Amino acid sequence: MQDLRERFEKAGQGHVFKYFDALDKGEQEALLNQLKMVDLDELERLNKTLVFAKNTDAGIDFSKLAPAPYIPLPPEKDADAQWAKAKEVGEEAIRSGKLAAFVVAGGQGTRLGFNAPKGLYKVTPVKQKSLFQVFAEKILSASRKYGVRIPWIVMTSHINNAATVEFFEENAYFGLDKDDVIFFKQGLMPAVDLGGKIILEGKGKIAMTPDGHGGCLRGMVRSGALAELKRRGLECVSYFQVDNPLVNIIDPYFVGFHILGKSDMSSKMIPKAYALEKVGHFCMLDGKLTVVEYSDLPAQYQEQVDENGKLKFIAGSVAIHILDVGFIERLGSSTKPEDRLPFHRANKKIPFIDDSGVLQKPEKPNGIKFEMFVFDALPMAANPVIIEGFRGDEFSPVKNAEGLDSPATCKAHQKAQWARWLAAAGVNIDTDKDGIPGIDIEISPLFASNQADFVASWNALGQKPEIRNGLYIA
Ligand code: UTP
Repeated sequence: MQDLRERFEKAGQGHVFKYFDALDKGEQEALLNQLKMVDLDELERLNKTLVFAKNTDAGIDFSKLAPAPYIPLPPEKDADAQWAKAKEVGEEAIRSGKLAAFVVAGGQGTRLGFNAPKGLYKVTPVKQKSLFQVFAEKILSASRKYGVRIPWIVMTSHINNAATVEFFEENAYFGLDKDDVIFFKQGLMPAVDLGGKIILEGKGKIAMTPDGHGGCLRGMVRSGALAELKRRGLECVSYFQVDNPLVNIIDPYFVGFHILGKSDMSSKMIPKAYALEKVGHFCMLDGKLTVVEYSDLPAQYQEQVDENGKLKFIAGSVAIHILDVGFIERLGSSTKPEDRLPFHRANKKIPFIDDSGVLQKPEKPNGIKFEMFVFDALPMAANPVIIEGFRGDEFSPVKNAEGLDSPATCKAHQKAQWARWLAAAGVNIDTDKDGIPGIDIEISPLFASNQADFVASWNALGQKPEIRNGLYIA
């Protein structure tokens, strides 16, 4: 204990012991356990580079930045030899049990303002299914289609793990085999105030926050989830985020391109909807694939067009990847600085106890959280592949309570997708100019998870359901 105290004092963080002597034995032990997890050298480095640094730009030489190459989406995937080949290879890998699904669900979802883990949020228009249920049914549907067990790894945080596991238990794992759902908690980082001091959120508790979605690499290794995947003979994982119910989790084309490209980490890109859309940009910098966030890329670059008037930096990153198990192991277990994902700074409102020991809930950001981003692994990946996806079948996240990327826009996009699938089967529904039907409809992933499967299942139905508000096809 004395040794720990001295180390914290030497590092200028001795204030975390301010109330120590007044704590009972259990509380003292809990605090010491928390403090043992803090890497003081790392914290000092982060304070220097992210808290006190004068220069807060991303340090990118924009004149060297070029758009990243990607494999464009053909008008008809199966009629294109390259895409058809990828599908064949991908289906073979899925069928032989090489692919697991992987959702990162450890975020705090503060923008949505939902008082539970985001995966519990009810997102579908008719049945009000939760995000977790939608994903579970997509995985179950693929598992049935390919006749294979598809493990699903769910990354949670210390804040939302218990509520997440309980939700799966209460819902009998949505029909999945419990043994195929593997939870693990991501790592934690101490949060500091604007002066770089660790925040006390109780007299015997320091503020520790999840280490960002990039924490999934070391989290997978440390928790044993990766060892379990290796034990089961898995070779790659389909990575997605908890807020996007449109995600095509088990996509044989994507898996096939990843395998054919001998890629460590592959990505889907969606053409930006407009120049200043708030997504990351796939770029090349010094021969390496890099995602440059919208907040780091000056508007003049975001708006640049080529000789045909097309956006030059058009490839938007939507956090959909395939990662090789070996690559996760390399980055997640390495201690070499060149294999480590960098940390980023996020200013947050972090509850703290004031000088008189009273808990305060700040109205504006008072502290700093350190996070890693998964896309920072791309420059370290061998042969990274990017394929284009069609936004309407891939991406509509629930981020904000209202406006853009909200439950309302997401419901509209789900309905538009299903209206397109129905139209492909010859059933036309009235829609607005954006293809969004006026009535509520819903198609269960267990009926079909993509347009081609929908048309086949629809055609196989003896009695077709009547098209009406509240239609649910299961
Ligand atoms: P976001 O960047 O949307 O962050 O996460 P968030 O914490 O969920 O939401 P806000 O910013 O507070 O509103 C994108 C994805 O990364 C996961 C989230 O759960 C989501 O799937 N994530 C984020 C983690 O798993 N861990 C983290 O530490 C941060």
